[in-house]
Amino acid sequence: MQKQMERAGHKDERSRESGLCDRSIELHRILACKPLTSTWLHVNATVRDPYDRKKTEHLLALDGANERLHLFKAELLEEGSFDSAVEGCIGVFHTFLLVILAPRIRSSIIKRVIITSSLAAVMLTGKPLADDVVADETWFSDPVVCEKLKDWYMLSKTLAERAAWKFSEEKVMDMVTINPDTVLGPLLLPTLNTSVEPIAKLVGAETFRNATCRLADVRDVANAHIFAFENPLACGRYCVAGKPTHSCEIFKMLRELYPHLNLPQKYSDENLSMPAFPAFQVSQERVKSLGIKFTSLEVSLKDTVDSLMAKNLLSV
Ligand SMILES: NC(=O)c1ccc[n+]([C@@H]2O[C@H](COP(=O)([O-])OP(=O)(O)OC[C@H]3O[C@@H](n4cnc5c(N)ncnc54)[C@H](OP(=O)(O)O)[C@@H]3O)[C@@H](O)[C@H]2O)c1
Repeated sequence: MQKQMERAGHKDERSRESGLCDRSIELHRILACKPLTSTWLHVNATVRDPYDRKKTEHLLALDGANERLHLFKAELLEEGSFDSAVEGCIGVFHTFLLVILAPRIRSSIIKRVIITSSLAAVMLTGKPLADDVVADETWFSDPVVCEKLKDWYMLSKTLAERAAWKFSEEKVMDMVTINPDTVLGPLLLPTLNTSVEPIAKLVGAETFRNATCRLADVRDVANAHIFAFENPLACGRYCVAGKPTHSCEIFKMLRELYPHLNLPQKYSDENLSMPAFPAFQVSQERVKSLGIKFTSLEVSLKDTVDSLMAKNLLSV
């Protein structure tokens, strides 16, 4: 890494400071929205295969990438795989497991670790989730409730975040978690990612799901990670979730924005009085205290669909 910096002509002390991002979809936006546009921070990002151009080209095309983006090969299931990427970093943004970084963290100059958790680790406490309920960062999903519901994603996020907090307390490590609800927003990748795929698949579909969601824009989620790293007072957990919105409202917006798109007209479940997901709210107070201004759902939807169209990922 040092050699890369010298090649790029960065020899002062500040230029040696780096942050690690693993290569998840959200963290791509972190790369895009701040560290590379600030003049001093270097970013070590991990990919499973640095030679897979489909997965790296869009990263290498980012402004400043030539000088300040360094790609490292890393595989979660291989012990020590992330060590070289973390070396020399002052901040670590990690979207999966903290434990894999454990050996490095013990002996490093890392000032803070930012973990991407999920609202999944917040909402399933066993308390009722009615329309007038406001969930916040004091809530922590109960693994027993997740197991009863056979919701293995929620269970895994809950156990992973619990393990991360235990680890950070034992090692006295400064850690913050970002807990987003479902994320949408414009893509950097040339291919579909997990959370935007359902939107792409709606075009041409016959029905849509009768559900309420609290969508979070990927740029807000990315900013939350950055602000939580930069603000010395940031601590604990930060939920990032939009206002509860029923799928019929989302479709109304989409139809108004794109009257030519072949969007489904009816719910897969017609029973409107019992939405599949309860319409509880999530407090935005803590994350707004970091300086996050929420992108409107309309802008988020428009930017998502526009980016899907621009990448030919939508059949119009
Ligand atoms: N998307 C959401 O709506 C949402 C909401 C809340 C929280 N989150 C959390 O945010 C994190 C990222 O989610 P995402 O939606 O961005 O996921 P994603 O689209 O599935 O991306 C996962 C990324 O992880 C990489 N990866 C997968 N297995 C790996 C392994 N064994 N070793 C190294 N890298 C590996 C993948 O690399 P390849 O490209 O090589 O496969 C890919 O870049 C997760 O922790 C998720 O729980 C997501």
